Amino acid sequence: MNSIINFAHRGASAVCPENTMAAFRKSLELGATGIETDVQMSSDGGLVLIHDESLKRTAGAEGYVKDRTLSQLLELDAGSWFGTEFKDERLPTLEELLDLLQERDTLLNIELKNGIFMYPGMEEKVIAAVRDYGMSNRVVLSSFNHYSLAYCKSLAPEIRTGILYGEGLYRPWDYAASLQADALHAYHYAVLPEFVAEASEHGVVYHPWTVNDPERMKALIDAGVAGIITDYPDVLSGLLAAKGV
Ligand code: G3P
Ligand code: MG
Repeated sequence: MNSIINFAHRGASAVCPENTMAAFRKSLELGATGIETDVQMSSDGGLVLIHDESLKRTAGAEGYVKDRTLSQLLELDAGSWFGTEFKDERLPTLEELLDLLQERDTLLNIELKNGIFMYPGMEEKVIAAVRDYGMSNRVVLSSFNHYSLAYCKSLAPEIRTGILYGEGLYRPWDYAASLQADALHAYHYAVLPEFVAEASEHGVVYHPWTVNDPERMKALIDAGVAGIITDYPDVLSGLLAAKGV
């Protein structure tokens, strides 16, 4: 059995401000073997890592990511909201994270945050960056915008895609086949053990999110998921080591 991918959700977001280089670096120290991050686009086409469309919660500024240039976005303080010791953290670019991971074997789950604002051209830019870094075989592109995922697959058949969804998708392995997707990124309570087995028979794997309860982690490991997205990569790492997987 391949080992289960330990995806740190927005980096080590339980102990560092989410989607910052501090959070990404910390997650590697805590045993993550994969990183999940959220990408959006500046008004001049820069790729920045931030979860919310609004800058308010994690960058302390008014307005939206899409309305500022990359250089304006990079001036913002992306750490103080979490703790004053993180006041020097900035919004990372996708390229900064690719730089961190290029010489490692860490996997990268890039969530395209294009469900509310569509960011035309973002798929092409993300794929170009991944290819430039030679990381196509270590990336999974995910999104709640499934039109975007189908488009990504048409642009880059060699890069894996993962369908993000919240609940009750009927026979998601059939839906995955219709999108030529490789993985199901399901809210974890939407994952039952029999679903994992049937998806596997259809060549589709599960990467459930966001799993922070050790008992749920254990149940999903036993069910045979291929990866788990968690805010606590240290907890998952400990469980995987104890189970020898
Ligand atoms: O990729 C899993 C998870 O990140 C999806 O939800 O809102 O945390 O980006 P969200
Ligand atoms: Mg996300």
